[in-house]
Amino acid sequence: MKVFVTRVIPAEGRQLMIEAGLEVREWKEKRGLSQKELISNTQDCHALLSVGTRLDKEFLQASAHLKVIALHSVGYDNVDVKTATALGIPIGNTPGVLSGATADTAFLLMLATSRKAFYMHKSIIKGEWGFFDPTADLGIELRGKTLGVFGLGKIGLEMAKCCAAAFGMQVIYHNRRKNEAAEKEVSARWVSFDELLEQSDVLTVHTALTSETRGKFDWSAFTKMKPRSIFINTARGEIHNEGDLLRALEEKQIWGAGLDVTNPEPMRSDHPLLNMPNVSVLPHIGSATEETRAAMSVLAAKNIIAGLKGEQIPFIVNPGVYK
Ligand code: DGY
Repeated sequence: MKVFVTRVIPAEGRQLMIEAGLEVREWKEKRGLSQKELISNTQDCHALLSVGTRLDKEFLQASAHLKVIALHSVGYDNVDVKTATALGIPIGNTPGVLSGATADTAFLLMLATSRKAFYMHKSIIKGEWGFFDPTADLGIELRGKTLGVFGLGKIGLEMAKCCAAAFGMQVIYHNRRKNEAAEKEVSARWVSFDELLEQSDVLTVHTALTSETRGKFDWSAFTKMKPRSIFINTARGEIHNEGDLLRALEEKQIWGAGLDVTNPEPMRSDHPLLNMPNVSVLPHIGSATEETRAAMSVLAAKNIIAGLKGEQIPFIVNPGVYK
């Protein structure tokens, strides 16, 4: 049986599929596929392993023969899951294995932003490390501050644990449903969305992109935040409104921002956020460690192998497909 893989993935996952007797065809070009290329490459394959590729209704309807689609991500906002379910195609993702690495990225952005680290690094490159001024380039400290988590799931909990352990930060959170296990583990306290905005010194986003969370952090949200607060987003760029974020920083409604995700991606290289001292931006590298990417490739491969054996896939996004 043949699997089409939309980008070259770590050897661990590829090897597992080969050992299971599958023929693995990887898209090796350093560019994404067009819809036409995706459809034509998938036509004679039994499964698809998709890395960051948009799988919309048109693609799914043209590829209804697929026995399984495994995503190389935990997020599945770029897949029309409803159509896949209606067509009987199981969709798999890679939960859990990237929680630590993604939380580390949020922590890194928080600390880098609080000390203007990315901006100061660029100033050395520009030859601006000169006269020592004790009043210039001051950051803000994180010890004892309040961390607000929007979406306290696996990744949010890892971030909360790091912040509590490193800086004794108090944790508040906003979820649709309370996370009682996390409340016990980091003494987190559930608050309303407005209270989260008003009380957080650092507000970190770890929720999925849905119709409810799209554009949630807009001008109205930023104006409710503390003027010395830091906004962090390592989830999806569409959850914040980038124009409103820029204005909130320029007008000092908030103090700083750290982004691993932008809207759109890639961010243009002359974007004004990139030149602000209190802003740190990374190119969506939340899960980009050797360990995590290898583990993601293994989970994706396990989903493909199980799906092609006609078994229920282990990491399923749309369990309704089996009903
Ligand atoms: C995920 O797994 O959803 C990460 O954001 C990588 O895309």
